[in-house]
Amino acid sequence: MKKYLLLFITVLSISLHAQEHNASLEYTVPSDPLVRAKLSEWGKVKFGLLMHWGTYSQWGVVESWSLCPEDEGWTQRRGPYASDWFTYKTAYENLQTTFNPVKFNPERWAKAAKDAGMKYVVFTTKHHDGFNMFDTKQSDYKITSKKSPFSSNPRANVAKEVFNAFRNEGFMTGAYFSKPDWNTPDYWWKYFPPKDRNVSYDPKKYPDRWNAFKKFTYNQIEELMTDYGKMDILWLDGGWVRPFSSIDTSIEWQRTITHNQDIDMPNIAAMARTHQPGLLVVDRTVHGEYENYVTPEQQVPAGYLPYPWESCMTLGNSWSYVPNDQYKSSRKVIHLLTDIVSKNGNLLLNIGPGPDGEWDANAYARLEEIGKWMAINSDAIYNAEADPKLARQGKWVFTKKDKCIYAIYQLAENEVVPSNYSVSIPQGIMVKDVQLLGSAQKIKFAQDKNAIQFSIDVKKSPSTTEALVFKLNLK
Ligand code: GLC
Repeated sequence: MKKYLLLFITVLSISLHAQEHNASLEYTVPSDPLVRAKLSEWGKVKFGLLMHWGTYSQWGVVESWSLCPEDEGWTQRRGPYASDWFTYKTAYENLQTTFNPVKFNPERWAKAAKDAGMKYVVFTTKHHDGFNMFDTKQSDYKITSKKSPFSSNPRANVAKEVFNAFRNEGFMTGAYFSKPDWNTPDYWWKYFPPKDRNVSYDPKKYPDRWNAFKKFTYNQIEELMTDYGKMDILWLDGGWVRPFSSIDTSIEWQRTITHNQDIDMPNIAAMARTHQPGLLVVDRTVHGEYENYVTPEQQVPAGYLPYPWESCMTLGNSWSYVPNDQYKSSRKVIHLLTDIVSKNGNLLLNIGPGPDGEWDANAYARLEEIGKWMAINSDAIYNAEADPKLARQGKWVFTKKDKCIYAIYQLAENEVVPSNYSVSIPQGIMVKDVQLLGSAQKIKFAQDKNAIQFSIDVKKSPSTTEALVFKLNLK
């Protein structure tokens, strides 16, 4: 097991917003060769879909967090039950009895995501609220419970249907699973009402209860790893559920962790991998053997990172479905994707399905536009590599393959396609010819010691111009 202590990276401001996790400063290369092989497969596909879906979509509020008795911007309760936490919790949990997403059609999602160029999916099997979007045997707080109207639908085991639909389109699949569970009394024991996101009792004082919670978590993960087909990623959220010894006190939100909450990751990961050899385990923010890739959230690192990483970002403003959420433009997403790939990362883009089981029409529209760009330019994305020597230059970002560099010019909104370009390239790299993807035109270029210059016929621009990809074939 090699350990790199990365002292030099220029990542990520320490966020005061405890909801955002900071990227790890330390990365451990997995010891299992099957995990390394899958990591390299995953690192080639670059673009995935994340979906946050649960009963909260009926209220159109933030996922789970309105239950959390912390006074933060994103935990505020609203609506008729807001004034009393206990009443609110009951009403929130009663959402189970009205959740009936009859338009649920995961094949439609999978097709739209595939056409956009996405190649893996991560789905919330259970968020912090503890509501299970799969048919767990460990709890009745689940979509397949008799209490939930959707339970009589043949597709009631929603997580299974999602994974199957995406797998059928060739996707890698990942289970988002929240380690904290604000429904089970073995995490928020009713004897001690919760004061914050953490376990509501001291696990050291009540070891039987904590052990029951560990068993519960283990069993749920085992269900997901055995009954849901081939699984590639176990994406574990809720980084405060971690051993005390792993806390990094330089990170503000980790200083607020009240108790040692060790759920025995070595045991869970070993079990999971007996069922799913090579499984990527992403124990977010807990550095070491079980954080197989690093997950900066709603942000892109400043530069190249020399280990596997993924930015998870929302297409709208919220992870959950919020009516009339403002979705990012396809241009913005294309710029994020190209920037991220140029820095050695993947983009995991989130869409929150609505209470009826559909996406907002704007989500489909964005994916379609992204797909048009990908249809022309995906050579610069899939299987492409990043190179720290090819760092961002203004509007230019770079990826590369064996015998070529993709110089990607990110056009701003309202910018007309320029005719003349100049781009620096490291000394010693000799360009043989220049092509503009999606355009058949011949491009003349001149190269001097540090840069190449060329002009294009703008009338022969590609049909989508959010970013122009120039393929520099090398001598
Ligand atoms: C943030 C949110 C959490 C969400 C996660 C996804 O941490 O608080 O609800 O699941 O982002 O990355």
